[in-house]
Amino acid sequence: MTLRVGLIGTGTIGRDHIRRLTHVLSGVEIVGVTDIDQARAAAAAPAGAEVFATPTALISSEKVQAVIICSWGPAHEEQLLACIAAGKPVFCEKPLVTSEAAALRVMEAEVSFGSRLVQVGFMRRFDSDYRRLKAIIDCGELGAPLLFHSVHRNASVPEGLYTSEMPLNDTLVHDADISRWLLGDEIGGVEVRLPKQSRRGGDLRDPVVVLLHMVSGALVNVEISVNIAYGYDIRGEVSCESGTASLPLRPATIIRDIHGVRQAVPADWRERFSDAYDQEFREWIFAAGQGTATGPSTWDGYAATLVADAALWAVKNRSLERVNMRDRPAIYAPERDQLTQTSMKSAS
Ligand SMILES: NC(=O)c1ccc[n+]([C@@H]2O[C@H](COP(=O)([O-])OP(=O)(O)OC[C@H]3O[C@@H](n4cnc5c(N)ncnc54)[C@H](O)[C@@H]3O)[C@@H](O)[C@H]2O)c1
Repeated sequence: MTLRVGLIGTGTIGRDHIRRLTHVLSGVEIVGVTDIDQARAAAAAPAGAEVFATPTALISSEKVQAVIICSWGPAHEEQLLACIAAGKPVFCEKPLVTSEAAALRVMEAEVSFGSRLVQVGFMRRFDSDYRRLKAIIDCGELGAPLLFHSVHRNASVPEGLYTSEMPLNDTLVHDADISRWLLGDEIGGVEVRLPKQSRRGGDLRDPVVVLLHMVSGALVNVEISVNIAYGYDIRGEVSCESGTASLPLRPATIIRDIHGVRQAVPADWRERFSDAYDQEFREWIFAAGQGTATGPSTWDGYAATLVADAALWAVKNRSLERVNMRDRPAIYAPERDQLTQTSMKSAS
């Protein structure tokens, strides 16, 4: 059975997902696209796909079984609520939404629907290196995780469009989510340190260092640098009671020549996480075909939003800000996700 998908937002990542859903993956067809820039939507539409005038028209169309949201963060809430009201599975790029209140509205709508429909685009969870790292931590041979060092470096960000708040309310969400998932822990508090500012970004507050206090007492330190010039560099090392485990550098190919021994650095997230995005959508297509969702949930999007909010307050108040999550609704219980993952394995 082919899953008929409508995609909202045909910008950078929207077009990359259209490419993978059209040319890389099977069992899926993009039947419709839309964008506030209709010319951009028309240019990005695969052969045979309809260009809808609005997200509402796309979501309500009978042609569309499931939806992918790749619009800007502030537009996500309205589009997610429309998908849930229509009972359609929806993949939403990060951030889920941009405020705690909006996250709670989406959560309440999904809980009222009675089962999961939303998967959030935290693609690191689908990366084979992060999955190996998690398996090593989970098997317990290194003892309990005590520290996680997470490095998140971008070559550059769009001048004028990327503000000093965005390392904390846009970029940090990936590190916050992967920390919760890798360590199997929640984030209880957030501190931020602002080191000497890079002259490359003008007024942009860059880099920033974030300290995530996990509920277990483990600590995560995150370096976010968004103007590092040399490439997109993602690193992670977990320090446990009797050993450490770290991500390999990618691409792993080693070059030896007259300049010495070196590895290339990915240009951007599309290159570094290409395989992870493919796997993220393989799993989404399977679940959406069954009318549900697995993987990163509205709950996880809500958690990341709370951490982003706390980080902004931590800068303002120069303090350790507490993160207080409400009780987890039953539809987001981890066992439920595992059940669906198990049925997926036995079906594949
Ligand atoms: N998972 C990741 O690694 C990753 C990487 C990049 C971007 N993102 C996320 O993906 C989303 C899009 O990012 P991008 O880099 O493609 O941005 P972009 O600016 O290149 O594209 C966004 C597109 O959405 C359209 N749009 C905005 N609001 C809309 C609305 N209300 N209705 C219809 N169309 C609308 C814009 O016209 C634009 O074409 C953001 O939420 C971003 O944070 C995630």
